[in-house]
Amino acid sequence: MPEITFRKFAWSDVPAITAIYRHYVDETVITFETEAPSEATMADRFGKMLDLGHPVIIATEGDKVLGYAYASFYRPRAAYRFTCEDSIYLGPDAVGKGIGSALLAKLIEESRTAGFKQMLAVITAERANSIRLHEKAGFRYIGKYDALGFKFDRWLDIVHMQMAL
Ligand SMILES: CC(C)(COP(=O)(O)OP(=O)(O)OC[C@H]1O[C@@H](n2cnc3c(N)ncnc32)[C@H](O)[C@@H]1OP(=O)(O)O)[C@@H](O)C(=O)NCCC(=O)NCCS
Repeated sequence: MPEITFRKFAWSDVPAITAIYRHYVDETVITFETEAPSEATMADRFGKMLDLGHPVIIATEGDKVLGYAYASFYRPRAAYRFTCEDSIYLGPDAVGKGIGSALLAKLIEESRTAGFKQMLAVITAERANSIRLHEKAGFRYIGKYDALGFKFDRWLDIVHMQMAL
């Protein structure tokens, strides 16, 4: 595993995280977005999470941004305010090296500190590595929804996993 550092988000990270996310929007069914957001849109999204005090973590190796993770409200309605959903995206050349597990562990720790009590993972069902990642971190499998998404001309199932923080 490379020497990596986890740190808080900085505005200068926006181009790198936008490039990482755009890859997954354009090339994969991991995210259900179909139009890659601009840097301005990503900056707006991350700014809102910072304003809410939600954890946003950047994984770096030297000056290079390897990936990012955040936890934000699962649903906007007030009674859900102690429940977060995690998101983790590593650049394609950073996957499969154990970095995701370390990043998720850090996100779980910061989400507890932020006051969240439950963390949900909402995962495209065919992504076995993401399911395994969450299982290793202590999430339990809740169930699978059939055909909640349609992208690249096919229907996509969704798995929900949950961990009490
Ligand atoms: C998902 C992601 C965060 C995982 O991080 P990672 O550093 O690549 O994963 P890790 O190496 O820490 O661990 C992944 C686990 O899945 C396992 N795995 C990989 N491919 C697998 C497969 N096809 N079937 C089952 N398990 C698999 C690995 O062996 C490893 O488990 P192990 O430690 O027990 O061997 C990363 O791959 C990523 O950013 N992918 C693209 C974006 C994404 O999918 N985000 C998640 C959205 S919910």
